[in-house]
Amino acid sequence: MQELILILDFGGQYTQLIARRVRECHVYSEVIPWNTPLADILARNPRGVILSGGPSSVHDDGAPRIDPALYEAGIPVLGICYGMQLTALLLGGSVERAKEREYGRVTVRMKDQTGLLGGMKSASSCWMSHTWQVSACPDGFRIIAETDNCPVAAMINEEKKICCVQFHPEVTHTEDGTMLIRNFLFRYCDCSGDWTMSAFAETAIAQIRETVGDTGTVLLALSGGVDSSVVAALIYKAIGSRLTCVFVDHGLLRKGESDQVCHVFSHLFPVRFIRSDAADRFFADLKGITEPEEKRHIIGRDFIEVFKKEATALGKMDYFAQGTIYPDVIESGQGTNAAVIKSHHNVGGLPKELGFTELVEPLRMLFKDEVRALGETLGLPRELVWRQPFPGPGLAIRIIGEVTPEKAEIVRESDAIFREEIASAGLDRHVNQYFTVLTGIQSVGVMGDERTYDYTIALRAVTTDDFMTADWARLPYDLIARVSARIVNEVPHASRVVFDVTTKPPASIEWE
Ligand code: XMP
Repeated sequence: MQELILILDFGGQYTQLIARRVRECHVYSEVIPWNTPLADILARNPRGVILSGGPSSVHDDGAPRIDPALYEAGIPVLGICYGMQLTALLLGGSVERAKEREYGRVTVRMKDQTGLLGGMKSASSCWMSHTWQVSACPDGFRIIAETDNCPVAAMINEEKKICCVQFHPEVTHTEDGTMLIRNFLFRYCDCSGDWTMSAFAETAIAQIRETVGDTGTVLLALSGGVDSSVVAALIYKAIGSRLTCVFVDHGLLRKGESDQVCHVFSHLFPVRFIRSDAADRFFADLKGITEPEEKRHIIGRDFIEVFKKEATALGKMDYFAQGTIYPDVIESGQGTNAAVIKSHHNVGGLPKELGFTELVEPLRMLFKDEVRALGETLGLPRELVWRQPFPGPGLAIRIIGEVTPEKAEIVRESDAIFREEIASAGLDRHVNQYFTVLTGIQSVGVMGDERTYDYTIALRAVTTDDFMTADWARLPYDLIARVSARIVNEVPHASRVVFDVTTKPPASIEWE
């Protein structure tokens, strides 16, 4: 039976990170809502339960509470921040407003470096973010860490294996945070850490076979991106050519990408592969369109229509496969009210439009980096698996103004040069996203003895953890110089190169 850690989510900013840290220790973990009934939690037979942080105060009316019987169930518990305060309150301790709110890196003094805090520095820099704190431990607990402002920075009931910390071990700013999580998993929860990607692949393949049965057929929209490619490889391993992949080529992919997708899925994973070459249609419909949202809308609409036409021609299939990944699942469960800055090309409605009720989503429980690791385990090419993110509308939103096949060629060629140089400088794993933009600006230049009036190419390169905020990458000048020289020499109609030095916010990563 697979070892499982359940994380009860109280709405903390870092809950997903807790799950990632646990999985990095090769123990499978899942995030579930804080109000999941205790019986459901116990039915999953978890090795341990982690209570996350959250925005509420335990004293608020209607603040999230759990059934205190959890603490008597013989399952080790780790309470973090709100999870600690809730544990203190439910077990008879007290929680008070801190004299000074602690936010950011704080030095925590560890008073007991056995057990939970084993291996951590005696004065360790930890990430704190709290207004409330435990002022008196419940019976049976002892204090194992403190800060200048927080007398109970960690407490433990060894006998019941209930561990609590006010700081956040899951964030990388907590220097020995992973050590603490490891201690919880391996010293208290008795985990062995046997969760690997090949174990995951085996289970996922068996599950797909069971769902689809001996004769069922599956349809997949293959974009060539990491997620849909990994789904295709996994389902191919489960059911072979009963998987049909439809690849709509809108003519706005990066250089060589379309051929690579065709090669991989006709040779390495020989699924039933339909390539729909629809570039002419997309370019025709984008003619004269300059507004970014309108471009997105047209591309999304055309994609659905082309896909539908191909799917209809194939006849009835039983299941529709999708590359939904865990952050999508967690986020859709929480619902956000964030303003729509860009309507991302979204084909989520596709299965419904095609009349599918049965979905196969084998990556639903994986984070992006786990999807990549799975792709490698399955034998997909490294350059496909480690691909940087690429927007659904493709190069169309990297061409300012009207999109034409000629402009697509300029941005595609310049982008290929930029990617090549970044890779040969060994920076492709360090810069999270990098590409060129065909700005709408033309400028005067001189080439040979001729006056030119050609396009300005912008280089965009960012470092980011989550793509919600980003910093511009400090690329070496020599690299920028090489890229610039190559672009103006090798790409017809590119006569000037500029480097974008704007952070997000206020700019976005893409230019449109
Ligand atoms: P922005 O430009 O919003 O980009 O800062 C954040 C991330 O989202 C990608 N992006 C898109 N992805 N369809 C997509 O599938 C889109 O329309 C789209 N627009 C931006 C962008 O490449 C970056 O990774």
